Amino acid sequence: MINNIPQTETKSCCASGESCGQCMKGGFPLKKEILSFITLFLVGAVTVLSVLLINEKRENALIFNTEEIDDKQDVAMVYDMPALKTISDVVKLPDPKLKGTMSVEEAIQSRRSRRLYSDKPVTLAELSQVLWSAQGITNEKGYRAAPSAKSAYPYSLYVVIRNAQGIENGLYLYDPTTNTLGNLGLANAEALLIEAGVQDNSQKAPVVIVMTAAMAKMQAVFPGADPHKNIYLEGGHIGQNVYLEVESLGMATVVSGGFNPIAVAKALRIDPVTEEVVYLIPFGHIGEEAQTAE
Ligand SMILES: Cc1cc2nc3c(=O)[nH]c(=O)nc-3n(C[C@H](O)[C@H](O)[C@H](O)COP(=O)(O)O)c2cc1C
Repeated sequence: MINNIPQTETKSCCASGESCGQCMKGGFPLKKEILSFITLFLVGAVTVLSVLLINEKRENALIFNTEEIDDKQDVAMVYDMPALKTISDVVKLPDPKLKGTMSVEEAIQSRRSRRLYSDKPVTLAELSQVLWSAQGITNEKGYRAAPSAKSAYPYSLYVVIRNAQGIENGLYLYDPTTNTLGNLGLANAEALLIEAGVQDNSQKAPVVIVMTAAMAKMQAVFPGADPHKNIYLEGGHIGQNVYLEVESLGMATVVSGGFNPIAVAKALRIDPVTEEVVYLIPFGHIGEEAQTAE
């Protein structure tokens, strides 16, 4: 008689304790399709959120009052000088000397970061020598003192003068092709740098080189690649050249990466979207206290 009683069909999973979607045995029933959908949804949501976050961070980093740089031009992919500015007058620098009084080995041996500077003004010859070591043209093809990936030469050297002979205080742009400094007409550049919160060494140095890099120049020679690595590597080469030249002149310098690049760009009317301030390099004659430790 037992055979006549209608029985509910028991699935093997229920018997074995697996989840089958019809009973609660073995935990909450989740079909493969549902699991895949949830996983895909989560991955998608995390990706979208990350992109949004990165974009927001980038935009925040570039917030800049563009009203103050109404003289900026459109940026071409390849250009020789940064897109900027009217140059009011040009100061011709003396030709750099190719022989000094110290060997490269001696300069490497004695080089130190020196952060205190005397009141002795920097001469035009010293200015020329240091700028040449950084970006001077060293052959007829236009190659420069420091190496550059695919000869992109993305760096520009702005120069803040606060105590030099034969040149008025202000902000200048070095043109390596003519060995000149173009006056950008910002007589209070030194005060503006201080307002931007730069370190003491850059506040007090007779001269501060402000190294900016145009990412577009590096992108033009390596399309589609991230330009940052090459840009920063090249900045290090330039900085080291300056260190060794300054050492061989018996003067003082320190490379400085500790500053707010947006604040410095804004202070000096540089467009931080097209040019990134990478290094500040103050230099001058050695101050009385030799402060080398950091
Ligand atoms: C990428 C980089 C960034 C630096 N930034 C600063 C800086 O912001 N301020 C500073 O006083 N020194 C700075 N320095 C200099 C170092 O403090 C210095 O090289 C270090 O103390 C070693 O001393 P030396 O250069 O005399 O050998 C920087 C050096 C490098 C390579």
